[in-house]
Amino acid sequence: MEFNELIQVRRSVRKYSTEKKVTKEQIEEILKAAQLAPTWANSQTGRYYCAVTEEEIKRIGEIGLPEFNLNNAKGAALIVTTFVKGIAGFREGNPANELGDEWGAYDLGLQNAYLVLKAADIGLDTLIMGIRNSDALREAFSISEDEEIAAVIAVGYRDQEPAFRPRKELDEIAKII
Ligand SMILES: Cc1cc2nc3c(=O)[nH]c(=O)nc-3n(C[C@H](O)[C@H](O)[C@H](O)COP(=O)(O)O)c2cc1C
Repeated sequence: MEFNELIQVRRSVRKYSTEKKVTKEQIEEILKAAQLAPTWANSQTGRYYCAVTEEEIKRIGEIGLPEFNLNNAKGAALIVTTFVKGIAGFREGNPANELGDEWGAYDLGLQNAYLVLKAADIGLDTLIMGIRNSDALREAFSISEDEEIAAVIAVGYRDQEPAFRPRKELDEIAKII
């Protein structure tokens, strides 16, 4: 898809088809796109835990999401995204600057941007969910303590036409000299 169209088409979708299901192969395709994002010293600390079968989606969703996100994500596959701590933003084991591990979250965000855009490119829709139960998700996927759990991303086929959420004026967010 042409880039300008792609970034317009991508919207947060909060109602998914319960009939059309996402496949393991589609998840692999969008994860491969996420891998192409730039990362700190190419450290690639993002990690992905994916529930694709109906049984696993139900199990992970019910323990890991609050009711409103669970309802909005119904019918979609779920991807728990994490990053390995203490690598991105670090040099010889020490934080390179004041942001420290926040660079790990930065890299994961970049990777996840590629992920959601690739999903849109192949006709899928997504919802990034920052409100989730990280302890339950850690247990459900046996996620190591050296990883920080960030967003859960729902991936499915839209069953609604989401409205465009307005953006701030450019001069509110940017200074160009
Ligand atoms: C880090 C992050 C966390 C978010 N968490 C949630 C969430 O828990 N539930 C939800 O419904 N939307 C969540 N969103 C979606 C935003 O509300 C949405 O991206 C924003 O309103 C802009 O709409 P758009 O994605 O359609 O352009 C999250 C988005 C981001 C980037």
